[in-house]
Amino acid sequence: MNEAVLAPKKTVFSGVQPSGNLTIGNYLGAIKNFSRFSEEYKTFYCVVDMHAITVRQVPAELRRRTYETLALYMACGLDEKKNTLFVQSHVPEHAELGWILNCYTMFGELSRMTQFKDKSAKHAQNINAGLFTYPTLMAADILLYQTDVVPVGVDQKQHLELARDIATRFNQAYSDTFKIPEGFIPKETMKIMSLADPTSKMSKSDPNQNSVVYILDSKDDVMRKFKKAVTDSEACVKYSEDKPGVSNLMSIYRAFTGKTFEEIEREFEGKGYGDFKLAVGEACADGLRPVREEFARLMADKAHLESVMKAGAEDAHHYAMRTMSKVKRKIGFVY
Ligand code: TYM
Repeated sequence: MNEAVLAPKKTVFSGVQPSGNLTIGNYLGAIKNFSRFSEEYKTFYCVVDMHAITVRQVPAELRRRTYETLALYMACGLDEKKNTLFVQSHVPEHAELGWILNCYTMFGELSRMTQFKDKSAKHAQNINAGLFTYPTLMAADILLYQTDVVPVGVDQKQHLELARDIATRFNQAYSDTFKIPEGFIPKETMKIMSLADPTSKMSKSDPNQNSVVYILDSKDDVMRKFKKAVTDSEACVKYSEDKPGVSNLMSIYRAFTGKTFEEIEREFEGKGYGDFKLAVGEACADGLRPVREEFARLMADKAHLESVMKAGAEDAHHYAMRTMSKVKRKIGFVY
């Protein structure tokens, strides 16, 4: 038997909050990339419901979105037999390690997190401690599985760096306990921008519905939103930092068609933004159609979704316990 056969698989972990309808930012920036790891890595993809409650949720909606996010994972090509698909709150070790890591994370570090600052500004009535310690729970998610690679959008980079710092600090205080994870943040799709304001991130919590394309939007909605997308007055399809609207649309078009920026520029030479926006809308709606159809099929069988989350939690729990027993022994808990 050769070495490669004997070597353990590397591990991938990522998560998505069931806190709103998922956008093409979530899709292109994260979920679409998840399946590329399924064959060669041990993959854990988690619906992070405990992160979602850092902002008030309507209970029935949170429950529904938890099923929906799992179904979307599967509709986006994640086979439950090749990936461990589960819900964060079903594996109590996440909360347990989250607490422990709080004691190895500095107040100053958490205070510097830009997402905390943004969310505190947005939810000024509810700046709870969970919102503040959100990144330590995220570090626990990742470190619990001895993760090598974390596919995310660029907005999670700061959290990921903190997870690395916490792991390094813990390893130095005791001895090697956690793997130090690396991000997988492909440049082309790391930040899909809002269609209404291309200088800010497309976000599922944006109240302006026209700025966001949801994975489950109908073709009519997708076309309407792209038609309204903010561009500029030049009417020239060219990728450039000072043309954020057009460049964002080009990134989306590229992600759905596989064409390069040069090919896109040539395709729309001498044509106006109207034609271009139509083409982006078509490509996006066509790309999402199979996801939408598969999603509808999966949501019709809740019992199957429940069996997937149950099996996923059992598998995840098995790995999580191994790390927890190591952690508890090292810090001196009677175990
Ligand atoms: P969340 O639920 O906000 O987003 C899920 C994933 O989608 C990416 N993303 C984007 N990528 C490109 N352009 C956009 N406009 C865009 N919007 C969102 C996010 O970067 C993310 O990868 N804290 C995480 C969830 C989490 C997690 C984890 C991720 C909890 N624990 C452990 C990785 C590993 C979050 O809020 O993602």
